[in-house]
Amino acid sequence: MRAVTATHDLDLPPGVRPTPLALLMLGRAADARSERGVECPGDLPSPSDPNLVARARAAKEKLGDKVFILGHHYQRDEVIEFADVTGDSFKLAREAAARPDAPYIVFCGVHFMAESADILTSDDQQVILPDLAAGCSMADMATSEQVEECWDVLAEAGIADVTVPVSYMNSSADIKAFTGRNGGTICTSSNARRALDWAFEQGEKVLFLPDQHLGRNTAVLELGLSLDDCVLYNPHKPNGGLTVEQLRAAKMILWRGHCSVHGRFDVSSVEEVRERIPGVNVLVHPECRHEVVTAADHVGSTEYIINTLDAAEPGSAWAIGTELNLVRRVAAAHPDKQVVFLDKTVCFCSTMNRIDLPHLVWTLESLVEGTVVNRIRVDAETEKFAKVALDRMLALP
Ligand code: 13P
Ligand code: SF4
Repeated sequence: MRAVTATHDLDLPPGVRPTPLALLMLGRAADARSERGVECPGDLPSPSDPNLVARARAAKEKLGDKVFILGHHYQRDEVIEFADVTGDSFKLAREAAARPDAPYIVFCGVHFMAESADILTSDDQQVILPDLAAGCSMADMATSEQVEECWDVLAEAGIADVTVPVSYMNSSADIKAFTGRNGGTICTSSNARRALDWAFEQGEKVLFLPDQHLGRNTAVLELGLSLDDCVLYNPHKPNGGLTVEQLRAAKMILWRGHCSVHGRFDVSSVEEVRERIPGVNVLVHPECRHEVVTAADHVGSTEYIINTLDAAEPGSAWAIGTELNLVRRVAAAHPDKQVVFLDKTVCFCSTMNRIDLPHLVWTLESLVEGTVVNRIRVDAETEKFAKVALDRMLALP
């Protein structure tokens, strides 16, 4: 099977340029730049093997303190069961940085999270992603070439000097390095407000990458900026599709990226659930569209969603707008509360779901045999500047 690139055979509207990004059949063929779409190079246990749980337990026990397993809240139950710690992307970054004694960090999450863990851990620790096809479509929406080009556009408009890049954790190590080199910080969904407050103390404008929704929701609903203060930079259009005047007038320059999972929620789902369950609390992730977040009662990261449900009154009703593995787990943990999924259709994050028990067993058993599979390594130069940006985030008040 071959990788399919998006640079040909595309029927694009006038003025829209094709992206150089490779469109890959997930799980097949290699993409050297993103490590996405790489076949598992070993003997993967069969998903129907009845001994998978026992094998994972035995391998983990043999490895003992040598391995530390991090599990993002969107992982499958069968994987979460083996996580030493679970969390949102901020908590997991901190947890990775706080484990200097574990030679192997197995990251059950997606590629950008494992990259961040590699940046935050020492050189003799090895970070492993059990399936290299576990990427993030949002992170792929900003390539370093596109972002460098955008920075040139801002420089030509005379505003690069007063613009501070703020990049969402859901971005490649290259983008994080760009951010560190240019005086910016990383943020996650749990500290985006603090990151923006910090950025506006350093400069007059923010270039927010790559999730337009988190950027807009935080700027408008938490910092009190107006929608008119925000412009949308489209990397597929010359000059981002913006005039120099628009760029100079803006306070927030939002990259045109989004999460395909959270993009599915819409206002009609909020209205429908309010009609169906009177008194329901609508709780959504800030990657949802602005109108959805505005229509909701509460907004926050995956960790915030869990904590909110833990603190909720028995008998209360909740409609949650985020990935389905998490919503199901929260519902099962709170049988005394009514917890429903906000959308009518099933909504897993397909790349998060690539990490399954067979891949975890394969990873752990390989480690027991002394073989490190699927190591995620960021090169030294990228790591240096990406770490500057990540450290700025970890130091936010
Ligand atoms: P959290 O940081 O809230 O866990 O979000 C990560 C993510 O990828 C959400 O789609
Ligand atoms: Fe990326 Fe969306 Fe999946 Fe989060 S839920 S990892 S943003 S594709």
